[in-house]
Amino acid sequence: MRLLIAGAGGLVGRAVFEHCTGAGDQIARLDHASLDITDEEQVNATLERERPEVLINCAAWTNVDQCELDPERAQRVNAYGPELLAVGCRRIGALLITISTDYVFDGKKDGFYTQRDQPNPQSAYAVSKLEGERRAQNAWAATIIVRSGYIFGVGGTNFLSSVIDRARRGEKLRAINDAVGTPTYAPDLARQLLRLAQLGLPGTYHVVNAGEGASFDEFARRALELAGMDANLVRGVGLDTLNRPAPRPRNSRLRCLLSPALGLVPLPSWQNGLQKFVGTTHPEIAAGPVPKT
Ligand SMILES: NC(=O)c1ccc[n+]([C@@H]2O[C@H](COP(=O)([O-])OP(=O)(O)OC[C@H]3O[C@@H](n4cnc5c(N)ncnc54)[C@H](OP(=O)(O)O)[C@@H]3O)[C@@H](O)[C@H]2O)c1
Repeated sequence: MRLLIAGAGGLVGRAVFEHCTGAGDQIARLDHASLDITDEEQVNATLERERPEVLINCAAWTNVDQCELDPERAQRVNAYGPELLAVGCRRIGALLITISTDYVFDGKKDGFYTQRDQPNPQSAYAVSKLEGERRAQNAWAATIIVRSGYIFGVGGTNFLSSVIDRARRGEKLRAINDAVGTPTYAPDLARQLLRLAQLGLPGTYHVVNAGEGASFDEFARRALELAGMDANLVRGVGLDTLNRPAPRPRNSRLRCLLSPALGLVPLPSWQNGLQKFVGTTHPEIAAGPVPKT
């Protein structure tokens, strides 16, 4: 399969590239400097040149609080960007896979959010991502939306990806304990993205690791335990105490209705992903056997 990865320099983009090279695909890997998804001319020229069968869009402006302060830029990158890619894909007949977020939901539901739940984004970031979904789907029928959440992995700059390093540097760790999501290991997400590319069935998918979900606090404590560190270095705090510009959903756990119906193998548990992550980033740590689920 001829693949093009946009946003290949980010956490998910890198994981997708690594997974696809291992799977032997022919890949064009374009980071922000090589392809700006908001630049129509560049998008069209790149697609004409590369002629991918599948474009996986991992590019986005992901700084949730900065998006709140500059909603226009959020719209430009997260809403119009995917639309431009969709129009370009339509022109060359390529499948578009573009990644969205659990934050499109308002968090008021008790259980897991599925595709049957109505999005109700609460922040500028979430509004822009939902608009990106809709614009891409309206522009091109062969569009797959993949919503994920609480993503961690090598190269990530977010709290989940950096918790062990920060604890090792002696930083005081405050982690939110009253909001839950479904943590997702970037290489597991990458694997499912490739399966979806092979399947080629347009629609909206929820792709997260299995399990009941976790708060940042629970995730961070588990990460430190696996790293042989004191979990009590983490102090749980309420979402409201952080006074961040952008609101976050208190529950954004996802479940997919389509994947089981299509026979897609579910991803392992987030604890399994976390153990693999700790083993990869800190091989000196004897993390013990990786749980099977
Ligand atoms: N991380 C999470 O927990 C999480 C949760 C749910 C959904 N998602 C979604 O997953 C996808 C991947 O996110 P990620 O975690 O990999 O984020 P990331 O590490 O911030 O990667 C995003 C990449 O997009 C690039 N980018 C920004 N603006 C661009 C533009 N105009 N044109 C081309 N590239 C641009 C960034 O480059 P620069 O840094 O150079 O600007 C960065 O390399 C995004 O759609 C995000 O919304 C992430």
